[in-house]
Amino acid sequence: MASSKPNYGSIPTLKLNSDPPTSVPWIGFGTGTAFYNKDNEKTIASVHNALKAGFRHLDGAQMYNNEAALGEGLARFLKENGSVERKDVFVTTKLTNIQNYDTTGKTTENAVTALDKSLARLQLDYVDLYLIHMPKAYANTPGVDVVWKDMIKTVEQGKAKAIGVSNFQQRHLQTIVDLQKSNDKVLLPVVNQIEYHVHLLEGPGGPMTQLLEFHEKHGIVTSSYGGLNPLYKEPGQVPARDHLKAVLRNIAKDVVPGFDPSKDDRETETHLSQVLTLWSKQKGILVVTTTGDYERATKYVDTANLPALSAEQIKKIDDAGKAYPKRYFESNWPSKD
Ligand SMILES: NC(=O)c1ccc[n+]([C@@H]2O[C@H](COP(=O)([O-])OP(=O)(O)OC[C@H]3O[C@@H](n4cnc5c(N)ncnc54)[C@H](OP(=O)(O)O)[C@@H]3O)[C@@H](O)[C@H]2O)c1
Repeated sequence: MASSKPNYGSIPTLKLNSDPPTSVPWIGFGTGTAFYNKDNEKTIASVHNALKAGFRHLDGAQMYNNEAALGEGLARFLKENGSVERKDVFVTTKLTNIQNYDTTGKTTENAVTALDKSLARLQLDYVDLYLIHMPKAYANTPGVDVVWKDMIKTVEQGKAKAIGVSNFQQRHLQTIVDLQKSNDKVLLPVVNQIEYHVHLLEGPGGPMTQLLEFHEKHGIVTSSYGGLNPLYKEPGQVPARDHLKAVLRNIAKDVVPGFDPSKDDRETETHLSQVLTLWSKQKGILVVTTTGDYERATKYVDTANLPALSAEQIKKIDDAGKAYPKRYFESNWPSKD
């Protein structure tokens, strides 16, 4: 009889505190950013390529307006590869864009019905992870407590194996922890997917440090997006980026086979991205990245096979990051809402 357990091959996984516990491949392929609003053949091909390259974790969202392409890329891959089953690919989607959230039972728009529509677009009967995309991403949204109770229903109905959140600050997570204090049947989020990279490192007591400590205390896995933004996002000459790249180049010589220090081409970029992604992995982060390039996708998956960074190498990257505090997705992190 076929095993009902996922087979992610040799890809390392992180444990999720779901009920029952599950695990997630440490690196995910995102269909936001470059594929945003592209519900088309380009996204289908990129998802298909990512799976061919070895990714077993796909990160989508209702807001990206391309769940049908994600689902089609997956369907085509599974059809061609008889040895890989649906259960062997971890699929995430995120709740967004509800304009008239049902708090009265009079309308039909809520986290459960939104997931039903996602599942139809994805051609799936469940997702592995369903996240609230933002604490307050749209008009007329009720409080996190109301939405979270509906998120729990998606698990009870077998439509999501695990639930979590994204872009949540400590005060938003506290609402859910408080809900659990009054009812121990309330599940906690298994993941908080946030912008996280070297330029968001802080000393003790900073809000990000406190958030990560809160995650740890409550068994919430920190997932990152934007991890490679420090290498390319800001236009123009950025001395902090040059410094970070110089540090990564020095480390790449030791850990990336085939790295050529005399070059500064697309392959070099990929190697530096690998070192930065390895840094995230060793910090225990669940990484979500993306690429439109098949070769690059294979390298990203292969990052887990590079030798581990030493404590000294990690500290050099930490120091280069800390010297330049920077957030690239400012609007996802409002000071209050
Ligand atoms: N929850 C949220 O609110 C949220 C927000 C943002 C993103 N996300 C998720 O996270 C995923 C990844 O986000 P991200 O794109 O910001 O991740 P990222 O890993 O920081 O960046 C990946 C992008 O960077 C490009 N890139 C990598 N290295 C480069 C270099 N050296 N020079 C130029 N370009 C380079 C890649 O281009 P190539 O295609 O050329 O390789 C790719 O488009 C999204 O797709 C989405 O699924 C979630």
